[in-house]
Amino acid sequence: MTDVEPAGLEQGWEAYTPEQHAIWRTLFHRQEAILARRACRPFLDGLTALGVEAEGIPDFRRLNEALARATRWRIVAVPGLVADDVFFAHLANRRFPSTCFIRSPDQLDYLQEPDIFHDIFGHVPMLMNPVFADYMEAYGKGGLKALRLHNLEHLARLYWYTVEFGLIATPDGLRIYGSGIVSSKGESIYCLEDPGPKRIAFDLLRVMRTRYRIDDYQESYFVIESFEQLFEATQPDFTPYYTELARLSDLDPGDVRPSDRLLRANPA
Ligand code: PHE
Ligand code: FE
Repeated sequence: MTDVEPAGLEQGWEAYTPEQHAIWRTLFHRQEAILARRACRPFLDGLTALGVEAEGIPDFRRLNEALARATRWRIVAVPGLVADDVFFAHLANRRFPSTCFIRSPDQLDYLQEPDIFHDIFGHVPMLMNPVFADYMEAYGKGGLKALRLHNLEHLARLYWYTVEFGLIATPDGLRIYGSGIVSSKGESIYCLEDPGPKRIAFDLLRVMRTRYRIDDYQESYFVIESFEQLFEATQPDFTPYYTELARLSDLDPGDVRPSDRLLRANPA
């Protein structure tokens, strides 16, 4: 398997300014209040166990101690978006690449590329969950394989609709686990309570056929029953799935199929 030694980049925690720590605090307090009854239990528990507190931008060295104990994952600092093969090799080796910069005060509600709030607050709590941690490693290995098979487009949709924008059904209603949602104030509410978007029971091939939007809230969310279900569904060799997907047309983000099982929004 290809592996790339971590570049050895440092987070440079000491260099954050008081203003930058204050941006983290603002984002943290806002999301904490919104997510209390909207994020899934593993996310909230992971956040607590990590000790990602409100005081300011967390130090990767401290987070890594908690992660090592819980699931043997580790955060590595990267300068920004990394090449696909590098990204997958990190995941396949239980390393999560995180940016170090934080958004500016005028970008509190929206920014185009991931920053440290998205990467750490959004992604790392779920890496404290053993099943999800294994799923992410398997995804990294699957990514390296998809690269060889020239099938990244289909596999990338799985990441998008699970890791980034996934919902889970619980006895108390729908809950969020996707990092792109938990790090966004507006979408945290929209995805669960707005009558607009579709909430479709998870189906692996359905997900991999579905295009996604990067410029606005999602038109469809896919809902898993459990993290075990997600892990099990993605265990088989995807090679025959890719063959089948090559024959199937792509679906638009807002399409509904006769076979879709639609779930109701949570009461607002
Ligand atoms: N089983 C997949 C494959 O053979 C790998 C994978 C696992 C992909 C988990 C995504 C998530 O390609
Ligand atoms: Fe992300």
